[in-house]
Amino acid sequence: MTLLPGDGIGPEVAAATVRAVDATGARIHWHEVELSGAVIERTRQSVPDEVLRSLDDTKVGLKGPVTTPVAGGFQSVNVALRKKLDLFANVRPVRSFPGIHTRFEDVKIDLIIFRENTEDLYSGLEHEVVTDVVTSLKVITRTASIRIARYAFHYARTHGRRKVTAIHKANIMKLADGLFLRCAREVAQDYPEIEYKELIVDNASMQLVMRPETFDILLLPNLYGDIVSDLAAGLVGGLGLVPGANMGQSHAVFEAVHGSAPDIAGKGVANPTALMQSAVLMLRHLDERASADKLQAAIERVYADGKTVTPDIGGRASTTQFTDAVIAAM
Ligand code: NAI
Repeated sequence: MTLLPGDGIGPEVAAATVRAVDATGARIHWHEVELSGAVIERTRQSVPDEVLRSLDDTKVGLKGPVTTPVAGGFQSVNVALRKKLDLFANVRPVRSFPGIHTRFEDVKIDLIIFRENTEDLYSGLEHEVVTDVVTSLKVITRTASIRIARYAFHYARTHGRRKVTAIHKANIMKLADGLFLRCAREVAQDYPEIEYKELIVDNASMQLVMRPETFDILLLPNLYGDIVSDLAAGLVGGLGLVPGANMGQSHAVFEAVHGSAPDIAGKGVANPTALMQSAVLMLRHLDERASADKLQAAIERVYADGKTVTPDIGGRASTTQFTDAVIAAM
């Protein structure tokens, strides 16, 4: 197992998660490799060779966030890693949590985001045509669109989900989002038992805030998937909670939705739940089901009890105190 603690709050939540996973009794051998802004600056590689070597060997990674400089500097390490390993599906389950106070306490939210992870406006193809005029290329291909749609529908069929909603802006980007939508429709025909719907992304955002309980599986191109993920996290208590998986043909890298949170890094108050729940997804992927269930149940017990939660959830516990509580709850 490759462990990439990342930077910012990454090392704090990664250390907490490793402790919690080890406490379940899962037989995980961690191979820790540095992946951070500092190592990218030092090696001048978009993803250091050592990271790729380790992931080629283990096929499975648990990753903390990595800071990306804004408006300049090196390319996003996260985007580079997803492209290099062809981690085409970004899967993010967003669920209501027992004991967490949100504006949506009366409804049960249980949706899963399937975000295309390799193209769209994340192609990084930008060009200054003349001074003060810039273009940024949005790349949508049939191959990638069919692949993510199939992944989402197959998941729906094999996990007893009822509905897939494709989210787009094909009224404006008629060619690009039009292609994404045509691919989704085509795949939907092979899954007649799954209800298929389409929503324009602005309307989808409003519906998510008004009626989040009506959503099941969301199928989105890269950029909308990124934005809607944070919106959805906000519905259930914030970024401290929501896990994710980057899935490819041969590799899988599990990471939280959140970033490196520079505003709280080093203070010992980051919420490790999102990475711990990413580790639960990883344990399921590795067929370590008993450990996965044990960790998930322990996390939920700590929230139901409500006494040892971190400041983002309205509590006063530190990362370490929360982790101790999770381990004690096992
Ligand atoms: P962010 O997700 O790091 O933080 C947004 C807000 O949520 C902050 O107020 C932060 O304190 C809070 N937050 C996030 N995770 C939390 C946790 N576990 N516990 C408690 N509070 C938490 O987003 P931001 O500030 O826009 O980005 C910071 C950096 O992270 C940027 O360089 C960005 O590029 C990078 N990033 C990296 C990602 C990755 O490695 N997969 C994903 C998203 C952003």
